[in-house]
Amino acid sequence: MNRHSLLSMRDLTAKDIVQILDDALLFDNEFKDWQLPLSKALAANLFFEASTRTHYSFESAQLQLGMKVADIAVSQSSVTKGETLYDTLKTLEMVGYDLFVIRHPQDEYYKELENINVPILNAGDGKGDHPTQCLLDLLTMYKEFGTLQGLNVVICGDIAHSRVASSNKEALEKLGSTVRFAGPKEWEREGFEVVDFDEAIPEADVVMMLRIQKERGAALEEVSDGDYLNRYGLSRERYARMKDSAIVMHPAPVNRGVEIDTDLVEAEKSRIFPQMANGVLVRKAVIKRAFGF
Ligand code: CP
Repeated sequence: MNRHSLLSMRDLTAKDIVQILDDALLFDNEFKDWQLPLSKALAANLFFEASTRTHYSFESAQLQLGMKVADIAVSQSSVTKGETLYDTLKTLEMVGYDLFVIRHPQDEYYKELENINVPILNAGDGKGDHPTQCLLDLLTMYKEFGTLQGLNVVICGDIAHSRVASSNKEALEKLGSTVRFAGPKEWEREGFEVVDFDEAIPEADVVMMLRIQKERGAALEEVSDGDYLNRYGLSRERYARMKDSAIVMHPAPVNRGVEIDTDLVEAEKSRIFPQMANGVLVRKAVIKRAFGF
């Protein structure tokens, strides 16, 4: 495996995370127009699951850095003839690609890619990790609070199926913040500290709502009954009890009116759309790192 791959937040030390966030902040300021000092760099993006934010913010970052980008049409590739993920990537390595961005439904799909020499950036693996989502979440919090130490973060919703929950737990605890989890009992996860959402809200610096991942089997009566927002979501009443300085986050896509009242998506405390802009900055930073700069 290439040593500049980014597969999981477990692979990054606190110092690595700070370095990536510092680079992302430079891309937001004095190094806005920085490009890779390479005569050519070819990226191959392989999305085996649907994506809007991750896919196209990676592409935006790659183009801004001067890369050429191939969006590999997985459904038109020889994967449909049964070719393995490893053989697909080895082929792309042999024909000249320099960077792979991969989203795949299988947890830790990258474990079968040890002999791929091109750096791999994990754009989400099953219920495993979503490292660049986590980095953009951290950047959003850092821009707000000027620190990632001592923050009180509550993550609420479909914890069981969420790679965002696991990546943020890993990173925020490493950086010295407190992360606790709320939501339906059916979606609790071993090792994830549970808190009563209503009790936690007035103390939280960050209230992060998670999407219900129906595609991974998440199903509850309250969702079909339309009662989820009142029982577990961010309603206007709960929003009103947040600290003045606190922010709302959500990795999106958002199920408006389910996890969060639709009027709150762009409310004053919401950072949901700014999170997406921060996604381009951190993806530029991890691409820079992938090429050893
Ligand atoms: N947050 C996130 O990963 O969104 P997409 O599925 O649209 O990439």
